[in-house]
Amino acid sequence: MRNVELKARDPDPAGTLERALALGADDRGEIRQRDTYFLRARGRLKLREQESGGSALGDELIEYSRADSPAASTSTYRRVPIADAAPLRDALHAAYGTLVTVVKRRRVLLWEGVRIHLDEVEGLGSYLELEGVAEVDSDLSAERDKVERLRQGLGIEDQNLIPTSYSDLLLNASDELMRAAEEVMKTAYVPYSHFPVGAALRGPDGGIYVGSNVENASYPQGQCAETSAIGALVAAGRTRITEVAVTAERMDICPPCGGCRQRLAEFASPDTPVHLGRLDGPRETTTVGELLPMAFELESRG
Ligand code: THU
Repeated sequence: MRNVELKARDPDPAGTLERALALGADDRGEIRQRDTYFLRARGRLKLREQESGGSALGDELIEYSRADSPAASTSTYRRVPIADAAPLRDALHAAYGTLVTVVKRRRVLLWEGVRIHLDEVEGLGSYLELEGVAEVDSDLSAERDKVERLRQGLGIEDQNLIPTSYSDLLLNASDELMRAAEEVMKTAYVPYSHFPVGAALRGPDGGIYVGSNVENASYPQGQCAETSAIGALVAAGRTRITEVAVTAERMDICPPCGGCRQRLAEFASPDTPVHLGRLDGPRETTTVGELLPMAFELESRG
């Protein structure tokens, strides 16, 4: 399914509700929603648990991708009805780890096929969303036009538009990568050094690819976390790295070794950010170019 959608901060939720009703929007009432986002998904994977006035509304698993842009953007998504959400949440958490949980109170209104969401998001504040759900064969121009007319009718100002999701607002993107590195660090095979390291790479699709260090009784055969993560990225069919995070249990800032700098440089640009440290501790961001000036490159590469 596809949507044309727009999201904005709402400095005046009561006024917005009044304007929407004055435009003839149909008030569908209030929902409480709890979205759990899982780590390591290619796009976004969230489990939505919801209820309205104390009665269950039907929980669902939603997979989607969306190009972040402040203007009305389109998204593609899949919704799977879930009969028993709690054990699925536990299973997905055990399998992938939880990225972030977004809890909100949502007032839903409907105007000419466009859904208006007046959201009160825990930890963030008041927001509104317009969602024009597209017909299967639509070229989206009618939906864009309606969303734009509604935007004007509700007086949504440019400066309040936001390009990102609530999950990204609650959690900046580098936190997400660092959390993924910390999670995978737990898998490190380090019987010789007892020095676990985790690395997470963001691919060009926004997906996260992770790896930990893998040692060997023949010491030089061991492999660094960054190298394992590169293997995961390439195995998933990706050959570009747009962001890197590295964390080590026993060192505040663990800079990649020389060999890994060269391996990262193969798939990254000199300005690709590299986050070193941990989520709740010291943190430093550098770049692949700073870590490895004059990286070796074969002229014929590419
Ligand atoms: N190690 C990494 O995995 N990444 C780094 O950036 C530095 C070092 C690993 C290799 C070895 O398993 C352990 O840390 C101790 O050197």
